[in-house]
Amino acid sequence: MAGSEKTSVLLEETRLFHPPKDLVENSNVMQYMKKKGFKTEKELRTWASANLEEFWGEMGKEYATWFKPFDKVLDWKPPYSKWFLGGLINATYNCVDRHAKGAKKDKVAYIGVGEPLGDVRKFTYGDLYKEVNKLANGLKSLGIKKGDIVSIYMPMIPELPIAMLACAKLGIIHSVTFSGFSSKAYGDRVIDGGSRISITVDGFWRRGKVVPLKESADEALLTAPSVEKQIVYKRCGNEVKWNPRDIWWHDLVKDQSTECDCEQLDPEHRLYLLYTSGTTGKPKGIEHAQGGTVVGCPQTLHWVFDLKDNDVWWCTADIGWVTGHSYIVYAPLSLGVTSIMYEGSPDFPDFGRWWSIIQEHKVNVLYTAPTAIRMFMKAGAQWSDKYDLKSLRLLGTVGEPINPEAWIWYRTNIGRGELQIMDTWWQTETGTFINSPLPTTPLKPGSCTMPLPGYNTEVWDESGHKVPTGEGGNVVIMTPYPTMLRDFYKDPARYMKTYWEHYWKVAPGVYLAGDKGREDADGYFWIQGRIDDVLKVAGHRLGNSEVESAAVSHPKVAEAAVIGKPDEVKGEVIIVFAILRSGVEPSEDLKKELIAHIRKTLGPVGMPEAVYFVNDVPKTRSGKIMRRVIRAKAMGQPVGDISTLMNPEAVDGIPKIV
Ligand code: WT7
Repeated sequence: MAGSEKTSVLLEETRLFHPPKDLVENSNVMQYMKKKGFKTEKELRTWASANLEEFWGEMGKEYATWFKPFDKVLDWKPPYSKWFLGGLINATYNCVDRHAKGAKKDKVAYIGVGEPLGDVRKFTYGDLYKEVNKLANGLKSLGIKKGDIVSIYMPMIPELPIAMLACAKLGIIHSVTFSGFSSKAYGDRVIDGGSRISITVDGFWRRGKVVPLKESADEALLTAPSVEKQIVYKRCGNEVKWNPRDIWWHDLVKDQSTECDCEQLDPEHRLYLLYTSGTTGKPKGIEHAQGGTVVGCPQTLHWVFDLKDNDVWWCTADIGWVTGHSYIVYAPLSLGVTSIMYEGSPDFPDFGRWWSIIQEHKVNVLYTAPTAIRMFMKAGAQWSDKYDLKSLRLLGTVGEPINPEAWIWYRTNIGRGELQIMDTWWQTETGTFINSPLPTTPLKPGSCTMPLPGYNTEVWDESGHKVPTGEGGNVVIMTPYPTMLRDFYKDPARYMKTYWEHYWKVAPGVYLAGDKGREDADGYFWIQGRIDDVLKVAGHRLGNSEVESAAVSHPKVAEAAVIGKPDEVKGEVIIVFAILRSGVEPSEDLKKELIAHIRKTLGPVGMPEAVYFVNDVPKTRSGKIMRRVIRAKAMGQPVGDISTLMNPEAVDGIPKIV
């Protein structure tokens, strides 16, 4: 499928891709605009973002069903916001019960595509209702109650959302760990949450092999004495070691009732914790609320991806990340649409797998990540060309800036040269898209366009002024919104410090997103990457210092500095500069051993591309590792003024790696 569009990156800022007329006319957002009498998208964006309470009050009624209506939309005492005060709600009621008890009872909620060919399991809303209720009753029988935290370590099978929804139904806070993370990562999260229950599987399929996840879960629980019971879903039937605390999922739910009442909750009641990386070595538990989630998530999905009742939606993220929490679980289920969930690897048995799934299940809207697009670009369009992708009508991307070349490839080869691409900029902290096109928006490849209606973002300089058009600065979010993070679990001081302190003196309540960006003359935002020491490896967020502490946990390593090196497919790959303990001989075997050690400590996402042994790393006088300087030297770029460093001579010892 040859595209007509040029791929020259030099033209990136001038190319404009207008949406086709019928997309605009039939779009969900256009119906809203007509109803309200807005003539242009800009009018809508401006009005909604200036009249937050009126706008979100309307959305709160439109998208969610309340046991008791709210009587106040917002209480904003920076840095804390409360939404929909006085209301009573339940996220699972909104995602499952109201559909199962209505016209969508027999509509498919999830098409669970297992990795083995032909392994497809469909769950209707009615099925979900029963399964969620049985598990919720099972959880109750174990003595778990509202406000408790349950830890979940599961792969991409429908039982994962079932477990989350069972928790939410009872007002239990779920804490999901990505199944590609290590046992240590899971253990840390279980300990932090003080969970009494862990939910996992025997194993799951990845590239044709069983990954024995229960082994990792068991290892994690060795360090987590709070766990009384572990529920194990039998996915692969692989042999597992059984401990007295283990209970099979099928045994737990066997005699449970398929009815279970929802807890009627304050909308601020916490729905989940999700850990994400920051500047320090310790991931932070981001808290999200029940009410905001089932308003903001469905509303943004409905407007941005324009989902219609009969659409099949596929968000390819893992539920272990926020993208999956919001846009595989809470948003599509609230809207009552059909979603694909795929368990396995995109290249199994070959690079045609995703495209075969789209053909077979007639997927209409595809939402994926730049790293995946670049991988397919590298593999070649012959894989997607083999399949009929005509069902697709809209595309999307998230996770990192998308380079215009990959954008054009995506549009040309997956989008028949005609589909619009929704480049959504947001974060674990925000819970929903913040800057994003609407189906009505003309697109510029590589830009996430502008703040959605009901959101306000700007680009600021260090002193708290908006930078002139076209200049770079810090991306800030100016106003609260229903899905914003509520706090860091057990660490409000760090919450304040990470996001709010930066501009507190000039503008209390302005949120520092941690990204650099600029806004062009048309108001389009261009995100340029992180300002803090956070890596983006294949779209996954990892702190440089997390990898450093994993390296230093090897007994032969004294100190380590980690940088990201640009990579064609993954965006960035991890490079480790390690200082060995005295008396340890550097060797190629030791490099391999260290790579394996870090992979084991952090999981496959944290695996370094390369290790270099050095005698020293440059530091400030206060002892902070100067990763910026190391990176410049390693990449063969000018290192700038290093005269104020504690040990400027260390820079000479950093090898050039490109
Ligand atoms: C960081 C947040 C939001 C779900 C996935 C990542 C980067 C995300 C984009 C985009 C440019 C993007 C930012 C952001 N990012 N989407 N469309 N364009 N950059 O969630 O792990 O919390 O990472 O991902 O740097 O701050 P996350």
